[in-house]
Amino acid sequence: MLQIANLTLVSPFLLAPLAGYTDLPFRRLCREFGAGLVVSEMISCHGLVYKQANTLAMLASNPAERPVSFQLFGADPAIMGQAAALLSTFHPDLIDINMGCPVKKVTKRGAGAALMQDPQLAKAIITSVIKNSTVPVTVKTRIGVDSQHISAVDFARMAEEAGAAAITIHGRTWAQGFTGIADWDIIAQVKQAVALPVIGNGDIHSHAQGCAMMRLTGCDGIMIGRAALGNPWVFSPDGKPTELSPLLDGVFRHLELIEESLPPGHMPGCIKNHMGRYFKGLPESARYRKMIYDCKDLVALHHALSLIRESSRNNQQEQG
Ligand SMILES: Cc1cc2nc3c(=O)[nH]c(=O)nc-3n(C[C@H](O)[C@H](O)[C@H](O)COP(=O)(O)O)c2cc1C
Repeated sequence: MLQIANLTLVSPFLLAPLAGYTDLPFRRLCREFGAGLVVSEMISCHGLVYKQANTLAMLASNPAERPVSFQLFGADPAIMGQAAALLSTFHPDLIDINMGCPVKKVTKRGAGAALMQDPQLAKAIITSVIKNSTVPVTVKTRIGVDSQHISAVDFARMAEEAGAAAITIHGRTWAQGFTGIADWDIIAQVKQAVALPVIGNGDIHSHAQGCAMMRLTGCDGIMIGRAALGNPWVFSPDGKPTELSPLLDGVFRHLELIEESLPPGHMPGCIKNHMGRYFKGLPESARYRKMIYDCKDLVALHHALSLIRESSRNNQQEQG
């Protein structure tokens, strides 16, 4: 169990925020498959304050996904405070601040990973968000700007002093982006240095690896990002099924959750992206992915997945 402020999580395995992926249906799915907490995609503080339609659409939530954390990004303490006040009216369980995103359009405005270069500004942002929020506030960051500037221990101390309820450390530098290997040693050093819960993140591909990170670093919880895509089973010890039939049960559950939150005529590209990932590594994955990518809407997608299920049943009967 993991305790963050007043929140007791049923599992210390958390779903990391993934822009373009951690929408409401996927978050609900991961909670059903065992994630102790799910995190939204990063939400622009400006988009919230100026009530931009695409930003407001990201606030879709449902009691079934709770506990849920909504993540804010921005570089202006006053606007971040206003955004936190607004976000609080939607009653998430936590608000997380993005201080680790390396994407240029975020860092060029001084937000995300760029805040590691300016801990004083980062502290002003945390203070402002806490002051304006009605829920506990957490921070997600990286180990430092580059290998010559590893600052996670000092940064975590600063976040703790400012009043953050927990800190997530992705074991890569800003300069690394998503390349190289996550450094778990720095995560262990952060855990030694602060009293607030530390969540380790980076390169966890299985439940066993998550347990290993907790054992080796002493961290209180772990966050899984990319390995959860097409694989919500990663949150449980048994892992992803090797048989197509139980795998399709998961796919159909994901589809059901998508259908609950999207009108039938609608089919954003991210849905096909999610669906295609389930079949990675299977003998017929290329054919299945083509069937999925040829679909124009959710009705067609449902039909394509039913055909895949039928062909798998026929194959089983032939083998049996
Ligand atoms: C496509 C993609 C989108 C991401 N979006 C976010 C985001 O919105 N907020 C954030 O804090 N981190 C974001 N990240 C970083 C992940 O949360 C995580 O820290 C990183 O992928 C390392 O964990 P992993 O090895 O388990 O994927 C993103 C990563 C990827 C690959």
